[in-house]
Amino acid sequence: MQPPHLVLFLFLTLLLPGTWADPEAETQVLQLLQTILFTNVSSAEVFGVTLLGDVPIYALDPADRSLRFHWPWSRQAATEGDMGKIKSHLKVALRNMVRYVHEVAQKVQLDYPLVIQSRAGCVLHPNRTSWGFMDVGEGGRDLIAFEVERQRWEPRQMSSLAELISKSLNSKKAVTSLLEHLLSISCQSHILALCRYGRADLERQEMPVATVFARTPRPDQLLLVCHVTGFYPRPISVAWLRDGQEVPPGPTLNTSAILPNADLTYQLRSVLAVAPHDGHSYACRVRHRSLGTRSLLIPWENHSGAPTTSITIAVLLLVAAASAGGFWWWKRRKGDETTWETQEFMI
Ligand SMILES: *[C@@H]1O[C@H](CO)[C@@H](O)[C@H](O)[C@H]1NC(C)=O
Ligand SMILES: *[C@@H]1O[C@H](CO)[C@@H](O)[C@H](O)[C@H]1NC(C)=O
Ligand SMILES: *[C@@H]1O[C@H](CO)[C@@H](O)[C@H](O)[C@H]1NC(C)=O
Repeated sequence: MQPPHLVLFLFLTLLLPGTWADPEAETQVLQLLQTILFTNVSSAEVFGVTLLGDVPIYALDPADRSLRFHWPWSRQAATEGDMGKIKSHLKVALRNMVRYVHEVAQKVQLDYPLVIQSRAGCVLHPNRTSWGFMDVGEGGRDLIAFEVERQRWEPRQMSSLAELISKSLNSKKAVTSLLEHLLSISCQSHILALCRYGRADLERQEMPVATVFARTPRPDQLLLVCHVTGFYPRPISVAWLRDGQEVPPGPTLNTSAILPNADLTYQLRSVLAVAPHDGHSYACRVRHRSLGTRSLLIPWENHSGAPTTSITIAVLLLVAAASAGGFWWWKRRKGDETTWETQEFMI
């Protein structure tokens, strides 16, 4: 296999009409992801993280079940609205939750270890409407979900366990009405507080770095690869241009999913299958919010063109060397040499 043929990094930026929406006019999702591992009848480990979009806001410390803030501003935002109350009741609420699961497990004789996962939060649209959600799973499967507007738990699997738990939770009216309040009112106002305090970090933008190279899996096929990485936020547009025209989706075009990097940036690649020496010009075009109204345009330097260019350069160098040599020889012949002049000429 031929080694990757690296052509160009971050090449041209072109002025193109803007396609990006105002970042403030965006749908926001705040969610608490929680996993509780019940090893045996007397132990439970609680793990939790809260995310706004893909940004971690705070996490639950499994050692003492207290909150660990990822940002100074997430601590500030947590002093507003209902968050103060939620924080002070957190440990008691978690203890009650753990006790409740142990009680149910004993009642229906569930086997330990047990893993209970939940996802709770709300979605806030730019028009300030929001909806809350809470889903609970057991052993990796959906178990029950809370319907916020109806203030009711509903089974999410056909099992006596799901039936029993939803029925038992629905009988706790104080809890369901509190949950409704938390998932709608408190959650929505917490998103607004986080956006206010954390604006600079939440609106962080990282520019994509794009590389174009080719692979030759078969002599009659050339795969042009456009690798784009290091960008944030996640939405991006990557397209191949053939002679300046966007290549429409089809069997020759293969764009990967957007994958996360370790530093909260993202990457993806787009592969276009072409015939070698087909006489067309190709370029990868990247649009991203961090580029504003511009686009990155990374041309694929056609394989057939590359040797021609190298040969041309080699010929020119030979001509230059020959003339320099000739000049130097001519000067020496004349006897009034200085190598200085020769060197200057060659530079
Ligand atoms: C329960 O599990 C914990 C942690 O895995 C362990 O330390 C403890 O000894 C166990 N208790 C019983 C009664 O098995
Ligand atoms: C608000 O926006 C969401 C998403 O765009 C839409 O589904 C919803 O109907 C809108 N609500 C109102 C009251 O405009
Ligand atoms: C697209 O990529 C996937 C994963 O690498 C591969 O399985 C699939 O065959 C590719 N499709 C085309 C049309 O090249």
